[in-house]
Amino acid sequence: MTAGSRKVTANSTVYQLYPRSYRDANGDGIGDIAGMTRRMDHIANLGVDALLVAPLFPSPNADFGYDVTDYCDISPTYGSLMDFDEMVQVAHARGLGVVVDMVPCHTSIEHPWFRDHPEWYIWSDVDGPANNWVACFGGKAWSRDEQSGKWYLHSYYPEQPDLNWRNPEVVEAMTDVFSFWHKRGVDGFRLDAVSRLVKDAGLRDNPPLTNPFPLWENALQAMWDQRRYHLDQPDTFPALARLKEELDGTYLIAEAYLPNRDLAPYLEHVDAAFTFELLQSSPCPHRLARILKESASLQGLAWTLANHDFGWITGRWGHEMARLAALLVLTLPGGAYLYQGEEIGMTNAPPPRTSQDRAGRDPFRHPLQWTRDGGFSSVEPWIPYHDPVACNVEDQDKDPGSLLSFYRALLTLRPALAGPLDEITVDESCLSYRRGAHRICLNFGDSPVSLPPHHEVILTTGDATIRTTLGPHSGAILAL
Ligand code: NOJ
Ligand code: CA
Repeated sequence: MTAGSRKVTANSTVYQLYPRSYRDANGDGIGDIAGMTRRMDHIANLGVDALLVAPLFPSPNADFGYDVTDYCDISPTYGSLMDFDEMVQVAHARGLGVVVDMVPCHTSIEHPWFRDHPEWYIWSDVDGPANNWVACFGGKAWSRDEQSGKWYLHSYYPEQPDLNWRNPEVVEAMTDVFSFWHKRGVDGFRLDAVSRLVKDAGLRDNPPLTNPFPLWENALQAMWDQRRYHLDQPDTFPALARLKEELDGTYLIAEAYLPNRDLAPYLEHVDAAFTFELLQSSPCPHRLARILKESASLQGLAWTLANHDFGWITGRWGHEMARLAALLVLTLPGGAYLYQGEEIGMTNAPPPRTSQDRAGRDPFRHPLQWTRDGGFSSVEPWIPYHDPVACNVEDQDKDPGSLLSFYRALLTLRPALAGPLDEITVDESCLSYRRGAHRICLNFGDSPVSLPPHHEVILTTGDATIRTTLGPHSGAILAL
């Protein structure tokens, strides 16, 4: 396969792979590239179009790969550039595109750029924070660099200083980095934290928020309370347009942590954007219907219910909703991203005794459960297994009634669901919508509901013989 010949598009289905926890091939307890390569069939057999690989770059792991010290190499923990090339080749041979998670907003504080090119970063003019901005994981967004005595901006951990995308040298250096991987044959990029790429030129204080922010009301709320100048700046868009052009139109997906309606300007320049509003919704048909109605006009949404930052949907909606969740995420127009383990119903674990991630995301990152005894590694994994006896790939692979088989059936059927998202309605506890010649019905309630008139039941989450009613927590695809 030649560089860039495989196309990932806005309509692709993508498996989000967290390499550290996918499969450990060399027996050190940490997932690696060889593990991904050797277990590529699991992803290919699922029926997705591509995989998204979380950062593999050398990193001191203050934020597990999202603090990069060299953008053009692979961390020895995961393997080598040769291993990476082989992995891409194997993915391509199985018909899968490869999307690389790129971190353009910040580097590691240990990246040589921080010392060699301090002007590539954002510094306060005063002896202290330049403004009232807060960091995403809590605390002030400014820290003092002991060596220079000056204060630098960090949207995330202090170990992740923000690059100054208003400096053309930064734009050039990062564009070279993207080109490096593009030339290696990858099929697209996830743009990490892209809503924070460009900041207010004057670094002005944020005013207090007047409207409630429509995503989760949790600890992150503080950051949204003051969101005027530290993110989502208009100058982000020319930067994205230039990147898109430099990369010959390669697929780009924005990780912009914003409500769906604010994604529109991003979608003018990139192919796709994650839908955090869906990810953070409760299983309430009215709320889901509102999100879908507000989003119906947006092209390029990448629907997702789970990732390494927010955990699996079964952890929030309960195991009884696993199939409904699958039916929802895979029957909407646009793209769909599945997080590893979602296909077998993995769920959030209790925090391990020794914490790895200071932001409390360990419960979302335990190893993929391949067999009843774990099967991720020949040794103790870097973070403990959760419930491999109850939930593993091997058991579900052979069982036609398993969740894994249901995901495979859905992914096989998905191309038939053409047509826009239409006729979104809620009847009692049942959310339903039309996609061309099909209607999808999802009953989120505890009681049965009647199915609307239809020609044929194509797929159900449960009883394949149903004709007129949908049981509790059940869904169906109907041919009209
Ligand atoms: C979003 C990533 O998904 C998350 O894991 C990371 O901590 C932040 N961006 C900072 O890079
Ligand atoms: Ca390993």
